[in-house]
Amino acid sequence: MRGKDWTQVKKTTEGLFIVFEGIDGSGKSTQVELLARRLRRRGQEVVTLREPTQGKWGKKIRELSRTSGSVTPAEELEFFIRDRKENVARNIKPALAAGKTVILDRYYYSTLAYQGARGFSLEEIRRRHRRFAPTPDLVFILDVPVSTGLNRIKDRSVIYGHFEEKEYLKKVRKIFLSFQDPQCLVVDGRPAPAVIHRKIWSLLVKKFPELK
Ligand code: ADP
Ligand code: TYD
Repeated sequence: MRGKDWTQVKKTTEGLFIVFEGIDGSGKSTQVELLARRLRRRGQEVVTLREPTQGKWGKKIRELSRTSGSVTPAEELEFFIRDRKENVARNIKPALAAGKTVILDRYYYSTLAYQGARGFSLEEIRRRHRRFAPTPDLVFILDVPVSTGLNRIKDRSVIYGHFEEKEYLKKVRKIFLSFQDPQCLVVDGRPAPAVIHRKIWSLLVKKFPELK
């Protein structure tokens, strides 16, 4: 992708934009850290970010998720999009423009999957992002069965309690697996972290051989 298409869309001085997606407990944060470490060892400047962010909209999302029921699905969708707009403008675009690699834990694919599973039209969610959200170079979708994901995070404080219902997450997983975007690659999230990391590295190098 960094070949012809990539240079047409990005300035050559721009950094790589890599996203990790998947249901709760799929291992995103773990893989973000392993990849960031590897790229840094190779001398790259890497910025790791996550959504929802620590900004004002991200904080609001967390606050509201603790008081389940006090926010409508439409408001929730709105807050995720506002949080992302801020993240793109303040953090993502400036870092890429400075030539840094950005590794992001959740992006608009999460909105497609989670808010899509709440009934919003995927086309409408995509349309709302088209104007402001740059397309990543690669999106790794870590795939695990819902029971595996939930089992891994069972000790996590339940501040996202209302997100973590099994049937809902099954729908979310199904949407993640349905994406046909050329930048989206599904990776089996069940093996050990080091094994997954090796797979991710090989996929990344295949697409961007200059990283080798
Ligand atoms: P996410 O960011 O997708 O919610 P995390 O990376 O935080 O997932 O992982 C959730 C939990 O599962 C953590 O305790 C982590 O150490 C563990 N974990 C991560 N990846 C794996 C894996 N491949 N196999 C087993 N456990 C894992
Ligand atoms: P996150 O902090 O990544 O939680 P976790 O570490 O458990 O994966 O995300 C919090 C919750 O917000 C998570 O259950 C997914 C949900 N979410 C959405 O519903 N829509 C979105 O656009 C994003 C970014 C997250």
